[in-house]
Amino acid sequence: MAKHPKAATITVQVRNSAAGQFVDADQYKGETMQAAIEKVTVTGASGKAGFAIANYLVDAGYDVLATDVAPPRAGLKCRFLRADLTQYGEAVEVLNGMDAVVHMANIPANNIYTESTTFNQNILMNANVFQAAGAVGLERVVWASSETTLGLPFDPPLYAPVDEDHYPHPTSTYALSKVVTEEMARHHSKWWNIPFIGFRFTNIFAQEDYARVPGYQDDPSDRSWNLFGYVDVRDCALACDLALKADVTGADTMIIAAADTIIDRPSRELAEEIFPGLEFRSEVEGTDTLLSIEKARRVLNYQPQYSWREMVSHD
Ligand SMILES: NC(=O)c1ccc[n+]([C@@H]2O[C@H](COP(=O)([O-])OP(=O)(O)OC[C@H]3O[C@@H](n4cnc5c(N)ncnc54)[C@H](O)[C@@H]3O)[C@@H](O)[C@H]2O)c1
Repeated sequence: MAKHPKAATITVQVRNSAAGQFVDADQYKGETMQAAIEKVTVTGASGKAGFAIANYLVDAGYDVLATDVAPPRAGLKCRFLRADLTQYGEAVEVLNGMDAVVHMANIPANNIYTESTTFNQNILMNANVFQAAGAVGLERVVWASSETTLGLPFDPPLYAPVDEDHYPHPTSTYALSKVVTEEMARHHSKWWNIPFIGFRFTNIFAQEDYARVPGYQDDPSDRSWNLFGYVDVRDCALACDLALKADVTGADTMIIAAADTIIDRPSRELAEEIFPGLEFRSEVEGTDTLLSIEKARRVLNYQPQYSWREMVSHD
């Protein structure tokens, strides 16, 4: 298959034999080789993030297989296989023959199912996908962690802007499932000797979600639970594309948020009003995000493209 124009070059080291793959010593010469990520499975592709990510990656030139336990959405631009990722064999089948997985499938919040079901289902899905990724010899795993690992609701946060070190403070089994999965990712990354990039997404916004934004302006305290964070789903897709291309090794996690907050007031003033005495550990200018995206900027060159300010009239 022809290499797509934006094909990633990544460093692939000689595999752990536990991955079930044998390597040709002459080919590798004990060094590393460059391989392109071309074929990507996107899980959770009937959901908010997975649908947008699958289509974004198709447009970016990847060969995408979308999968979900729910039927495909209208407008999906790639092939689709329905699979229940709580079944290990189904996870193996949807990853087999691919180069990477962008794993979005999960129960996406607490208070949807019972606390025990949320934890058990998410852990089962994530354990199966990570194990299958190694078993079929994927080159890379990109997956969705969550801002909830950082301690939602922030009441108050320990400091601002909240960064990756404000961790772990899970307050629900949903958040705990992501904390446990981050730990699983660290070990699977070593076992299979491939990168695992986890995104602590803040509140993800698709087009229809922006209609609620004007209503937030009158009482910003309604959005203090996550420090007024949001991220456009297209910027989530951008982050996944960057993660598929990035020259990284091991397991890492980073916050993915918009560059600004969802409230039309200076961020520092707003946070100090709602959380008196809050310690600021770095500069916050204007309406800058209070969920730091400095790490994603540094590691992935992530530059969010979308702001609610261009999509919602806010007189
Ligand atoms: N939405 C947010 O604001 C947000 C914030 C932070 C992190 N996240 C994480 O991002 C990811 C995507 O979130 P989303 O908002 O798109 O969620 P979503 O609920 O819209 O999509 C998740 C998809 O996973 C699928 N799924 C659930 N159980 C499955 C199973 N057993 N097998 C296969 N598929 C299954 C669902 O059918 C659904 O289509 C999730 O991992 C979520 O935890 C979401």
